[in-house]
Order: sequence, then C-alpha cells, then structure tokens
Amino acid sequence: MRTSVGIIGGGPAGLLLARLLHRTGIDCVVLESRTRAYVEERQRAGMLEQGTVDALRACGAGDRLNAEGLVHRGIELRFDGERHHIDFPGLTGGRTVTIYAQTEIVKDLVSLQLDGGPTLLFEAQALAVDGVEGGEPVVRFLHEGRERTLSCAYVVGCDGSHGIASAALPAGASRAYAHEYPYSWLGILADVPPSCEELIYARGEGGFALHSMRSPSVSRLYLQVPNGTDPADWPDERVWDELAARFAVDGDWRLERGPVTAKSVTPMRSLVREPMRHGRLFLAGDAAHIVPPTGAKGLNLAVSDVRVLAQGFAELHRSGSSRLLDRYSEVALTRVWQATRFSYDMTKMLHAQPDSDAFEARMQLARLRRITASRTAAAELAAHYTGLPLAL
Ligand code: APR
Ligand code: PHB
Repeated sequence: MRTSVGIIGGGPAGLLLARLLHRTGIDCVVLESRTRAYVEERQRAGMLEQGTVDALRACGAGDRLNAEGLVHRGIELRFDGERHHIDFPGLTGGRTVTIYAQTEIVKDLVSLQLDGGPTLLFEAQALAVDGVEGGEPVVRFLHEGRERTLSCAYVVGCDGSHGIASAALPAGASRAYAHEYPYSWLGILADVPPSCEELIYARGEGGFALHSMRSPSVSRLYLQVPNGTDPADWPDERVWDELAARFAVDGDWRLERGPVTAKSVTPMRSLVREPMRHGRLFLAGDAAHIVPPTGAKGLNLAVSDVRVLAQGFAELHRSGSSRLLDRYSEVALTRVWQATRFSYDMTKMLHAQPDSDAFEARMQLARLRRITASRTAAAELAAHYTGLPLAL
C-alpha cells in the first residue's frame, strides 16, 4: 500500500487527523490495532474545551455533539466543607466547556470515515516504522494474518502512550520529560442522574474526588486511591461511602447512588516528548505526551496537536511550503507545556499527599483560597480549563 500520510492509531488523534486531511484533499491511511467495537467502547474522559468542540463541528462531526453534548458554564471547587463556583463565561469573556464522552467522538469519527472517508483498517497492528530519516518511510504492519507494508511521504504516530511510533525515534532524537504521581484514580460509571449541574473537584479529608457525568442519567465519578489499588478491594458500597465522605459539605447536599456499570483504576503521570518530530515521523496526542486526568487535558491536547499538523500538511499540499509543518513541534509544545503545567498544579493542589505533610496541606488550602478570593486567580484557572488558544 502507498499513501501520502500514514497514520498509526485510530483513537481521537488519528481519526480527527484523517478527517482534517481528507477535507483538504490529502490522502491518508489509518492503521488501528484493535477492533472497531473495542475502540468504540473504551471508556475515557469527556470534557471538551471550546476549541475542541469548534474543531469537531468544523469537520462535520458536530451533529450528535450538538444534540447530546452538555454545555457547562463552570466547575465547583469543594474544600473544607465549602462550595465555590468558578464562572467560566464571566471570567473568560464567554467561554464554556462541553461534556461529551470521548468514546462518542470516536464513534462519530469512525462512522464518518467509513462513509466515504479515507481508508481505516481495524485489526491492523503497526510493527515498526523504517526510514523516517530518508525520503519515503515505510510502516510494517500485521493485517489478516500477514505482514504488509505501507509506504508514505510522512508517518504520524497517533498510537497512544504504549505505541510503537515513539519507539521508532532513534536514541537522542527526542527526550522524554516525565513525572510520576504517588496516587491513582479509581473511576466508576453509574446509572444514576448526576447529583450536580457542573463538575465538582473536591479536596476531601481522605483525598481527592471528582464528580463528572456522561448524560442526564449517567454519572462518572473518581476517587484518589493509592498506587497499585485493586478495584476488587473496592466493592460498590465502599466506593459510594468514600465518595460521599469526600464530597461532604456544610449544609444541604446529597450524593445520589445507583448501579455501578464500570470500575477501573488508572495511574497518573505526566510525560512530554520533545521534539514531537524526527525526520518524516510526527507524534501527536498520547504518543507524544501524557497528562494526569485532573483538568481533562489529554483529549483536548490530542485535538490541538492534529489541528496544527493538519494545517501544516494543508499548506504543504497547497503551496509546497513546509514552513508551518516544520514549526509543528514548536507550536504544539507551547500548548502542551502549558497544559502539562496546569494539570500538574491542579493535581498537586487537590490530592492528599500519601505522607500527609501538614505544611503541604496548608499550601494546598492557601492556593484554593486564593482562587476563590481573587478574580485574577480564578480567571487564570478558567482560562486554562476552557483552553488556551492555538499559537499558530
Ligand atoms: N498499531 C496500530 N494501532 C495502535 C498501535 C499499533 N502498534 N498501538 C496502539 N494503537 C492504537 C490504540 O489501539 C488506540 O486506538 O492507537 C490508538 C491510540 O488512541 P488513544 O490512546 O485514544 O490516544 P489519542 O488518539 O492520542 O487520544 C488521546 O486518549 O488516552 C486518552 O487521555 C487521553 O483523552 C486522551 C486521548
Ligand atoms: C470525565 O468526565 O471523565 C472527566 C472530567 C474531568 C476531568 C477528568 C475526567 O478532569
């Protein structure tokens, strides 16, 4: 097989990139190692920045998002038994965020792609990328029991945090900056209407808790747990009791409980690869960077990466100039580092330190109090949460 842009990975980054390229007349092929059912069912985050929503609408993937997405005008911060609303439109000149699950975005993009879009092969596992320093890189992949090759002008690794694209970077070509956090999130999906209108980020006595949602009848909740936690040690009643304790406030508020339909534990880390390009190989989304989920930047960064990349390819296709494509890593990383810093600070501000450092706990409260007391500090949080502009 031969194509202009070979895309490894059919998650949100790979699928949106394919869509954007297709719309500018650039041909591409997406190789996805899993089945369609698997990628469409995988539970991930679901908070979309305004720019992410705009990008999905602009590429024709906005119908269900417009009908089913829940527009949120703020978040609630809870600590010390108090509740504080952070008003996004008021603090950012009108920006909002939208709740719409990543898995729904994937379904929308897959159906657009299979309906006359560029080639998307499921159960096509990329094995290696060769020749990225030369003129025509080749992706070797397994499909229907045999090894095949895809020759491309460029390869984009959108293959997530455990993909093979980043491994194709020769030693010294790119550096990984990483940070591990001493806690994980236990997440549940429950068939119960959300107990809140906007997301609640709580710094509870026993640690962090987040109340999110998927729809008016499905709640998504998370609890900070120690690394290495086995979900089997957390029967549903224990999860609900702990959530209720961490969300407790002075005054009237009740956490509604319901049947738990999914439960899993996710470790947290930050990682940034710099640069996000080597020769004819580009990295985008989780293949290039990981953020902890506090602040929900992972999906939004994947979208902003591929928007920059698609514009670079479009300029090259239109005018023959690689000026923008050559700036991809620099432009994308400006935003990536800001989101990395934001997620890191949100995480450190809201999670209990396992060694219960009393001084650090006071620092967390001082940061939270500053955000709720100062319009400037709140506006800073709102600007990052709703998403910084692309610095093209
Ligand atoms: N060959 C083909 N496909 C592969 C390979 C491979 N060798 N390795 C991984 N993949 C596929 C995975 O099966 C997955 O569908 O690449 C895809 C990567 O998708 P995501 O992990 O969803 O990553 P990305 O598209 O960058 O989206 C980022 O996902 O992890 C979340 O929080 C993150 O929300 C963010 C979003
Ligand atoms: C989610 O809905 O899954 C979600 C929302 C906000 C976050 C993290 C996850 O910060």
